[in-house]
Amino acid sequence: MNKNKKDVKVETSMMDEWPEPIVRVQSLAESNLSSLPNRYIKPASQRPTMTEDAPAATNIPIIDLEGLFSEDGSSDDVIMARISEACREWGFFQVVNHGVRPELMDAARENWREFFHLPVNAKETYSNSPRTYEGYGSRLGVEKGAILDWSDYYYLHHLPPHLEDFNKWPSFPPTIREVIDEYGKEVVQLCERIMRVLSSNLGLKEDKFQEAFGGKNIGACLRVNYYPKCPRPELALGLSSHSDPGGMTILLPDDQVVGLQVRKDDTWITVKPQPHAFIVNIGDQIQILSNSTYKSVEHRVIVNSEKERVSLAFFYNPKSDIPIEPLQELVSTHNPPLYPPMTFDQYRLFIRTQGPRGKSHVESHVSPR
Ligand code: OGA
Ligand code: NI
Repeated sequence: MNKNKKDVKVETSMMDEWPEPIVRVQSLAESNLSSLPNRYIKPASQRPTMTEDAPAATNIPIIDLEGLFSEDGSSDDVIMARISEACREWGFFQVVNHGVRPELMDAARENWREFFHLPVNAKETYSNSPRTYEGYGSRLGVEKGAILDWSDYYYLHHLPPHLEDFNKWPSFPPTIREVIDEYGKEVVQLCERIMRVLSSNLGLKEDKFQEAFGGKNIGACLRVNYYPKCPRPELALGLSSHSDPGGMTILLPDDQVVGLQVRKDDTWITVKPQPHAFIVNIGDQIQILSNSTYKSVEHRVIVNSEKERVSLAFFYNPKSDIPIEPLQELVSTHNPPLYPPMTFDQYRLFIRTQGPRGKSHVESHVSPR
């Protein structure tokens, strides 16, 4: 325990700048490389080998939310049961008829695509640091000499309101700030609805999870991922295997190009998105609150040599300074709490310093037996 505290302290002092000069993956992709730089070549065990892939027809559950939030407040038991099973068995599901306007989804993705199509030097003014990660970035983690992922990204805060800072948001294309703001508002509403379903499905009062997250004071941020074409996609990953550290993630995938893979037992399933669907997944904080009834599942992104890919990951998180631990209602002497309390601020230092490392964090964050 003491050792961990000390590690975190050392790491925070490392977080003012990146350990090496940042190279934009977009620049590499545009320089017509014939080979892949060594920094992006994954060890053989992590490469996206086809042999461990599930049959192409396999997909994560697709759940139609139409009717779930009817005016009279009644809910549809079949839909609730499907969400419950998806959270326990998969940690991932797609939702359609989720209430966010399809035009807004397209506008959000295409505004961001335009932003990423700006020349690299036009984006450098937004360049980020590992302290907050806000802005234009090209790596996750501060370990010197790490093997990197084949992607650039943009990270910004939406909630709490005092962290929403338009000056840290892009100003091109001219509509982008308005679109991001509107998109954030609609996606937050969807998150609030799903949170109620997650609570009810565990026999809790429907605002239980929201309360445990800090009520109105929750956090929300957006990471837009840009995966350029890759000259040797079989050697690289767009995003290494990880579980999301926060509460819940609402992903808007590229409508043209697949890339997200979800771990199911020992195989990787390539998600085939439905038109205008969101991909929802449970993050580590909800796994912790549910005492591991809901699963935060490992996922990664593969790249290809034909087409770039753009995705928007919206993270819905607990208030960052309150301790998160298994809900009292869900633990007993027969079912003891699996995790000690920890704030999300503390928890996310791990991924911010180490970078994406499978499920190693939540698995090491267990109560002493
Ligand atoms: C993420 C993530 C998946 C994707 O940003 O955490 O898992 O498809 N993204 O880009
Ligand atoms: Ni993720």
